[in-house]
This record gives sequence, C-alpha cells and structure tokens, in this order.
Amino acid sequence: MYLLIPAAGSGRRMGSSRNKLLLPLMGKPLLAWTLLAAKNSRHVHWIGIVGQPQDWQDFKEIVADLGLTKSVRFIQGGTTRQESVYQGLRELPAVAERVLIHDGARCLATPDLLDRCTEALEDCIGLIAAIPVKDTIKVVNSTSHLIESTPDRRNLWAAQTPQGFVVEQLLQCHTEGLRRGWEVTDDAALFEQFNLPVKIVAGEETNLKVTTPVDLAIAELILRKRMRDEE
Ligand code: C5P
Repeated sequence: MYLLIPAAGSGRRMGSSRNKLLLPLMGKPLLAWTLLAAKNSRHVHWIGIVGQPQDWQDFKEIVADLGLTKSVRFIQGGTTRQESVYQGLRELPAVAERVLIHDGARCLATPDLLDRCTEALEDCIGLIAAIPVKDTIKVVNSTSHLIESTPDRRNLWAAQTPQGFVVEQLLQCHTEGLRRGWEVTDDAALFEQFNLPVKIVAGEETNLKVTTPVDLAIAELILRKRMRDEE
C-alpha cells in the first residue's frame, strides 16, 4: 500500500515556533512514532512524507534513525492540509492505484489500524477510520453563539485518519475541489461532495490528533501504558 503522511503543518496551536511533529514525545519526535506504525505495517511498502523544506533535514534524520527500509519520498507541502495532500497525490508513482492518507499528527495509530484500512480498501473506493462520538454535539450560530440544533448522537462519528481511496478518483475530486474553491479539512469531504461512497472502518480511541499541549501529555500517558502492557 502507498501511504501519504501530511506533515507540513506548523506548531501554532501547540504554542510552538516549529513544526509540532518535531516536538519530543517519550524521547522521539512525534513524527517518528507515526513512521514507526508505518514501518511495522504489513501492507505499507511506500511512504510519501509531505513536509516543508525547512524540516527536510530533521525528517531525513528521523527516517535514518528508524532504519526504515521501505521506499520513502519527501514531497513539498502547501499552505493547507488540503493543498499538501493534493501535492502528495500528484507525486505518487503512476502505478499507485490505491492510497492511504494518514496525518503525521496522529502519532498513536497502530500498524494494525493501517493494515485493517488497507484490507478494507480492497472492497471499496473510499474509507475513513472513525469512532462514535461520546459527547453530545451542538450546532452553534457563529455570531449569536446560541445553539441552533442538537444532532442525534447515534449518527455522529468522529473522523480520524487513515483515510483511503482509489487514487484516480481522489485526484479528480481534489482537482475539481480546487477549481471550485472548496475548502475541506479531510479527504472524505471531497468524495462526499461528489456523492461517492465512503465507508467507515473502526478507528481507535487512542488514535488522537496531537494538536495542543494537553494532547501531547495524553499521548505520553497512552504510550507509557502501551509500553507497560508490552513488558
Ligand atoms: O493542523 P492539523 O493538526 O489539523 O493538521 C493535520 C495534519 O495535516 C498534520 O499532520 C499536519 O502536519 C498536516 N498539514 C499539512 N500541511 C499543512 C497543514 C497541515 O500537511 N499546510
């Protein structure tokens, strides 16, 4: 399986002046944990890391330290995640029929999740890892800040990555989305706009997206527990 890792963001919401994926987590940069899952996946054989040029040197050192023997390609990202994924898709080898996209910031995803998504993608054209939401979600008016509605929680799922697609179709969706000026925060949203089916694969509760310092602290707790359980 071909895997694209969007890793071209900043550390703004983390309060860091550097790319948050370079911040240390249990002695390794965040991105190293994400790459470790890709390394240990049975199906992933090609990894495209989408980043910004100022981070190349650090990214290369992370890859070298992990002793990754799979094909690794560094691809220049854009100013939004959407642009970064689009650049990544355009740099996939021509033979790539299907692709998994997994945010570098979801550094706790397991190799098993990557493999389950790969296997599920054999029978569909689009999928995402997702989990049922635990909170009651409110739709709030952006100016008055008053609640407009409360969607039925039974129909609400929190989208994660990996998200997997047939490359040709996702590329078409991205190209057309760009032409129409659509702004989306995940790839499934583009598929949905074109009424293409996107399947849900059971995600992982621990597959959090490290965004703020609190997430980093939670990620550390989860990793410590995993290490204890493995002893
Ligand atoms: O900022 P956020 O955590 O939502 O970003 C999700 C993922 O997209 C992160 O792994 C981040 O590095 C990546 N990203 C990107 N290019 C951007 C912005 C974010 O690849 N311009």
